[in-house]
Amino acid sequence: MSEPRKILVTSALPYANGSIHLGHMLEYIQTDMWVRFQKHRGNQCTYVCADDAHGSAIMLRAEKEGITPEQLIANVQAEHSADFAEFLVDFDNFHSTHSEENRELSSAIYIKLREAGHIATRSITQYFDPEKKMFLADRFIKGTCPKCGTDDQYGDNCEKCGATYAPTDLKNPKSAISGATPVLKDSQHFFFKLPDFDAMLKSWTRSGALQDAVANKIAEWLDAGLQQWDISRDAPYFGFEIPDEPGKYFYVWLDAPIGYMASFKNLCARRPELDFDAYWAKDSTTELYHFIGKDIVNFHALFWPAMLEGAGYRKPTAINVHGYLTVNGQKMSKSRGTFIKARTYLDHLSPEYLRYYYASKLGRGVDDLDLNLEDFVQKVNSDLVGKVVNIASRCAGFIHKGNAGVMVEGNAAPELTDAFLAAAPSIAEAYEARDFARAMREIMGLADRANAWIAEKAPWAMAKQEGKQDEVQAVCALGINLFRQLVIFLKPVLPVLAADAEAFLNVAPLTWADHSTLLANHQLNAFKPLMTRIDPVKVQAMSDASKEDLVASQTDTGDAALQGNGELVKEPLAAEIEFDAFAAVDLRVALILKAEAVEGADKLLRLTLDIGDEQRNVFSGIKSAYPNPAELEGRLTMMIANLKPRKMRFGISEGMVMAAGPGGEEIYLLSPDSGAKPGQRIK
Ligand code: 2FM
Ligand code: ZN
Repeated sequence: MSEPRKILVTSALPYANGSIHLGHMLEYIQTDMWVRFQKHRGNQCTYVCADDAHGSAIMLRAEKEGITPEQLIANVQAEHSADFAEFLVDFDNFHSTHSEENRELSSAIYIKLREAGHIATRSITQYFDPEKKMFLADRFIKGTCPKCGTDDQYGDNCEKCGATYAPTDLKNPKSAISGATPVLKDSQHFFFKLPDFDAMLKSWTRSGALQDAVANKIAEWLDAGLQQWDISRDAPYFGFEIPDEPGKYFYVWLDAPIGYMASFKNLCARRPELDFDAYWAKDSTTELYHFIGKDIVNFHALFWPAMLEGAGYRKPTAINVHGYLTVNGQKMSKSRGTFIKARTYLDHLSPEYLRYYYASKLGRGVDDLDLNLEDFVQKVNSDLVGKVVNIASRCAGFIHKGNAGVMVEGNAAPELTDAFLAAAPSIAEAYEARDFARAMREIMGLADRANAWIAEKAPWAMAKQEGKQDEVQAVCALGINLFRQLVIFLKPVLPVLAADAEAFLNVAPLTWADHSTLLANHQLNAFKPLMTRIDPVKVQAMSDASKEDLVASQTDTGDAALQGNGELVKEPLAAEIEFDAFAAVDLRVALILKAEAVEGADKLLRLTLDIGDEQRNVFSGIKSAYPNPAELEGRLTMMIANLKPRKMRFGISEGMVMAAGPGGEEIYLLSPDSGAKPGQRIK
């Protein structure tokens, strides 16, 4: 036996200002399956992650919510951890970049880089918000496009004509945070001298650490010439202050990848078998893999190895890059109900369905992966329920009925068990290469052969014949053995199915090596259905609930005023409409008879409205502004009464009430002057 490999694995650190969605889950599930495969094979594999907790977006969001950034990131960390755990993503440690370990490591790495001459300083001129007293990143400045004249464009590019420009080129610039006109101001910035590492990066990026497509993209950047990287931000900023430089903070992307090390360091403190230096020293013989999406390749394949090299640490063994998730062939969309949060999925469906579907489509390349919801139902039902679990459910009953649950000794089809044994190295190779799709194809090919053999033997027919009982037992015992082999091969993808199968099989947790043995003279436990079919109704309910998330979030500060990436959204005036379009909207005065919180919905109130001769049930995402909903009862408001009823997770919403404001506590329900009567039409 060769020595177990020592492997450290990471997934990208999710920002601590938004929820995890199924696009994120593609990466965490991919990484988790790979890590579980390594552990299954007996390697010492450690999987660490953390929330990416710094930056101005988090600072501003906390301010809007009236809490400290520390409270915000603690809340989000609890939410993220729960989502990951329920998706069976088994981190050895899930830490935060806002941690003592990270502060120490970031400072130490910076000081090493500075001492080695890799830090430069120079003054730069930037827009500054005189009201908020802060420098404005490009995405916090809005103005008129200098090229096509479209209003309300961001500081670096125009969404209308596609022009890119400097924020100083924008006409009529405004701070998207306060609305103030920004002024130009100088300040000293700190730069990491990336060009010092040009030669190292040219060779490292071609050393096999990157997929070819990624290496080719990077070669374009290297050929164009590397630039120094601005690693500082001025106060106010939520992050770590730069050593010896009061009022200057590390840019979030400086300490984010160091967060991988910090999470591991935090884990080492409670796992004596893990030695931080052995994993990170320049001459380390351990392996280090970062799983990331293709949008953050520059940070991981240029800046990060250069920082590690400059500070005297080892570089990654490989960066494993994946593509984006599309749903039903398109970018995830809130209005189509395909922007699905991890939590919304979990409210309706079992995590292993998605894990298997992703595995069945994930190759080792950087292509995008499509979650086609119809194909998802069809594939999971046909492969997992129809092929794998079916073998056990077809055979278990005969063993329990005919032989008191004991699997007889012997091998009724050596050609089949030989084929299973022969396939194992190739399946392992596919897992190792992250070609999960090939691994799943090969495993399902084996399942097909097992099913065909059982169908040919037809134990259900033999069971009715005299003198065939031994053969029934021999066939079913082998059937269960083949099922056990399939479970061993699928365990990295389906850990719960595997645990349930282990309970039924009455065996200790299965490892990869167990595939070369067969159970004989073995007592089984009672068989319980191991997996049920996906009911398409539940998939539809998940999509409907995702639309509900949208309604709720339209009046929520976090999602509407500040999007996940920290961009501030101001609502431009909508396009002009004809009078007829207005006249088609039936606005009514409504009396709030009842207002109550909705169990299971963070943001919704259920309103019972009187509009004259009828009552309406309306869900409204205004809870953040009305934490004591009863105070709304008896008040008049206005509603759109002819909006098509919408099915939501909690019931049917029969219209919409009208409110203004940016969200959070600042939502203002509209009311008519006193004297208006419920049911009167607003014209
Ligand atoms: O793109 C993102 O979501 C970042 N929060 C990823 C950080 S990965 C690492 F470098 F920390
Ligand atoms: Zn333009």
